[in-house]
Amino acid sequence: MGSARIVVLGTFVADLSFRGDRLPVMGETVMTDYFRLGPGGKGSNQAIAARRVGAEVTFISRLGRDAFGALARETYRREGISDAWVSEDADSYTGAAFIFVEAASRQNTIVVAPGAVAGLSPADVDRAGEAIRAARVLATNLEVPVPVARRGLELARQAGVATILNPAPAVPLPEDIYPLVDFLTPNEIEASALSGREVCTLDDAEAAADSFLARGVRAVVVTLGEKGALLKDAAGVQHVPAFRAGTVVDTTGAGDAFNGGFAVALAEGRDVRAATRFGCAVAGLSVTREGTAPSMPSRDEVDRLLSG
Ligand code: RIB
Repeated sequence: MGSARIVVLGTFVADLSFRGDRLPVMGETVMTDYFRLGPGGKGSNQAIAARRVGAEVTFISRLGRDAFGALARETYRREGISDAWVSEDADSYTGAAFIFVEAASRQNTIVVAPGAVAGLSPADVDRAGEAIRAARVLATNLEVPVPVARRGLELARQAGVATILNPAPAVPLPEDIYPLVDFLTPNEIEASALSGREVCTLDDAEAAADSFLARGVRAVVVTLGEKGALLKDAAGVQHVPAFRAGTVVDTTGAGDAFNGGFAVALAEGRDVRAATRFGCAVAGLSVTREGTAPSMPSRDEVDRLLSG
């Protein structure tokens, strides 16, 4: 443990997860007997995934001063993640997410209210510059404001720190952000939204990846759920199949599991192909458990799956 140093710039939100047969239509109430409250947020989940597979992790974010904020602090204390750059805004609230997991498919749909983290600015990222410069890899995503993610990528690039942008959720991006990205990791929906072409097949994913490479990204990994991931860079294209680690019970947070594992493998010096496989193994284990952050596997579990 401890050789790979990762910095994650992103959100913590409290996940309020419901599982049921179907979502209500507007004006309707439906009942269910499944509810869980736990730590979530794409950045925080990625930080926890990275920590559990062996990295030293610093998280940059903002919370409210409330019960969900206390849940975040307790989570970082228990996991051993540095929250020295997680600030608080007493005038706002800690983010929350409504998550609905469909019982039959175990697929999910999510609504996020980011709360205090929406007030994070590029100047806040500058203040955390020493943490970024000390890392091997910076991972960020689009639950933080785009100028914030962009500033994180810029500081990392200036310091020679590898950059991962998980463009989730997809929002319009300025063209000048792409050349700051070493590794872009959209899922099919995000790849479709950002490339302007629908991504359903491996060929579609490759075409979307090509459009991102043309915009200046160094390598693209399109995550494809049960189909695994498609990697494209200057060396060519590779399809990495998904790992079957057991019965799929909840796919929420699988992308975060991938990104956390991928970041650690890169920080440990693996090439992008091996790192993609490592990320797929972390994701394959996470979907066999309920929840997001709580579903992230240990390093031993990942190593066993990879060598099995
Ligand atoms: O990627 C899953 C995460 O997205 C959930 O934890 C939820 O909080 C949303 O941010």
